Amino acid sequence: MRMHKKRHLEPRMEACGELLLVRGKPMPNLKEAAETYRALFDYRAVFGREAPTELEVGCGNGGFLLELARREPEKNFLAVEVCSNVILTAMERTRAAGLTNVRFLNIPAEILACYLPEGSIGRIYLNFSTPLPGTSHAKQRLTSPRFLAIYRALLTEGGEVVQKTDSEEFFDWSLEQYEKEGYHVRSVTRDLHHSAEAAGNIVTEYEANFLAQGKPIFRAVAVRG
Ligand SMILES: C[S@@+](CC[C@H](N)C(=O)[O-])C[C@H]1O[C@@H](n2cnc3c(N)ncnc32)[C@H](O)[C@@H]1O
Repeated sequence: MRMHKKRHLEPRMEACGELLLVRGKPMPNLKEAAETYRALFDYRAVFGREAPTELEVGCGNGGFLLELARREPEKNFLAVEVCSNVILTAMERTRAAGLTNVRFLNIPAEILACYLPEGSIGRIYLNFSTPLPGTSHAKQRLTSPRFLAIYRALLTEGGEVVQKTDSEEFFDWSLEQYEKEGYHVRSVTRDLHHSAEAAGNIVTEYEANFLAQGKPIFRAVAVRG
């Protein structure tokens, strides 16, 4: 389904300018950009402090991130989201909530290395990334080997990827990719909301829908090897 562009998208994006670190692609070819373009952020300048920094990939409307940033004010949070329509909602909510520890990148995750320094991220959250069933889109899944290589470079030593999904097929495939790419899977839950790990879980917008349909939620934590 094609999403309609939000009303007054451009001026509203501009109004959130202090939260938006970067938007769009630095050059048309993503692969070339990922390999050659570097405009690395200085987190101290961005957040005005040194603090552990975490990243959500595909933040959507930002419900998860906002709650996490509220609960953990001692950390900095970055969110990458390719779709301007949804990142706008996340930014407007962040501004309304007065949160100062969150910033946004409106870019495809494929070019994260252009902006985020190596070894600078303690945890990466993948919440309900699109499963993209079938083999033709496997490379675009956010747990495919090329993304796991990007995350590996960004993560600190001992840093981890925390993934939640409603798709068992995507989940099992992701577990295989973690192992193959040298991550150590330290926690696997196949029905999060009926497990001990439900305590403290932040329900995302997509998760709320899946829960309403009675679907189990799968969760894994994979530590950078
Ligand atoms: C299914 S939604 C989940 C949204 C939210 N995390 C939640 O759980 O409610 C997946 C989001 O990931 C974003 N996304 C998908 N591929 C991406 C990529 N390569 N880079 C950045 N964002 C991406 C989509 O635009 C979409 O907003």
